[in-house]
Amino acid sequence: MRVIGVEDVDRAENGVLHVARGDLVTPLARDRARERGVSISISSTAGEGESQRRPQGRPPLAAGGPGNGTAPSLAPPPSTLPVSGALYRRGAPAAALGWPVPRANADGNGNGRRSRVTVVGAGHVGAQVAARLADADRFSEVVVVDVADGLAEGIALDLWHSSALRGFDTRVTGSTDLAAGAGSEFVVITAGRARQPGMTRTDLTQMNAAIVGEISANVARHSPGAIVVVVTNPLDEMTELAWRATGFPPQRVMGMAGVLDAARFCALTALGGVARPDRISAVALGSHGEEMVIPLSQATVDGRPLGTVVDAPTLEALVARARDSGAEVVRHLKKGSAFFAPAASVARMVLAMAADSREVMPVCVRADGAYGIRDVYLGLPARIGRAGVVEIVELPLTAGELEMLRAAAARIDERARQLA
Ligand code: NAI
Repeated sequence: MRVIGVEDVDRAENGVLHVARGDLVTPLARDRARERGVSISISSTAGEGESQRRPQGRPPLAAGGPGNGTAPSLAPPPSTLPVSGALYRRGAPAAALGWPVPRANADGNGNGRRSRVTVVGAGHVGAQVAARLADADRFSEVVVVDVADGLAEGIALDLWHSSALRGFDTRVTGSTDLAAGAGSEFVVITAGRARQPGMTRTDLTQMNAAIVGEISANVARHSPGAIVVVVTNPLDEMTELAWRATGFPPQRVMGMAGVLDAARFCALTALGGVARPDRISAVALGSHGEEMVIPLSQATVDGRPLGTVVDAPTLEALVARARDSGAEVVRHLKKGSAFFAPAASVARMVLAMAADSREVMPVCVRADGAYGIRDVYLGLPARIGRAGVVEIVELPLTAGELEMLRAAAARIDERARQLA
């Protein structure tokens, strides 16, 4: 066996390089042959033409194109020639390099993955969530579902068109039917009405309860093993409703709010020049709305208490602005509500669970007795992983913070009872 390299291609006479079966032609050599129009002729001994062994009925392939008068020879497909794994080049087919080739998965996507995510609601938030999740290149498929005819399909196709640019192979599909996302690992519910100027989140309850209730029942039917992340407002009540309507264990039904509220607080604090936003850390607990609690005892910058670098009145003002941030965005937009930061927050949660990172985040979870609160959905620090909520984490809150959290729980509980 000989190793046929670039220099052999360069030495080839009359546009043909004769190699023996069993010779090892490097991928670089084959690239050079293609560049120079040199055909590689395989023979049982070097010098014997391929034409003598070509299966009957297969037309000869000539280096210079049909009828160029050169000896019939064949530039074989990559997999027919042995190649050196050590001498690989960019773009070589995985099979030819002996690397594992992804097999078609259950979805038939052929991208070698098996995890599907459904995003219900292809509006502002839903479309952005789908984009973030597709961009992560982590799932086999992101299925976007919306009741509006053609909306999900259009968003999905547009997103898929960005795959080559963004470097992902997560298929993005759209449908009006939740069955299209059957067997999803994660279902994100963003369907519903967004807050209009002057509307409180609570005003949305009646409008969105019917939508979320019906979707949740369908999720249970089509994706019985899914982890559900609710986004639709009013968040705490809609998460409670989704839990009831799916019949899933509470570990698999959660809401997104605290990640967003905490991110808003960090972003706003950074505007004061303390540090970059991602060096500031905080949790936002309680409700998504008026009863949001940011325990300042837990807020840090570079690991130091935030209270040592920002004065108390400024911090209180920052908490108030973070609490009102959703409405502030609505006031600017006049139509619709925030979607970039909400979608980034959802993606952060879903990707953490998909990776089983077990990070602790402020999540709307069903309280289990931690902080003296039980049987109500509200924002608490939770460790999340592949199975959903792994545990609710008890932070050492001050007595005042604990009191505010319990008061929030009581008010959310009142509203949740009205849902029944
Ligand atoms: P949007 O109006 O842009 O999109 C909502 C989509 O839901 C629409 O495309 C609509 O056709 C669809 N939809 C309605 N009923 C449906 C059904 N039965 N099945 C499938 N799709 C249905 O609203 P946007 O801005 O995307 O907000 C969505 C929800 O998320 C709102 O309730 C909003 O208040 C909430 N939200 C929550 C945040 C949070 O922190 N939890 C942050 C931002 C928004």
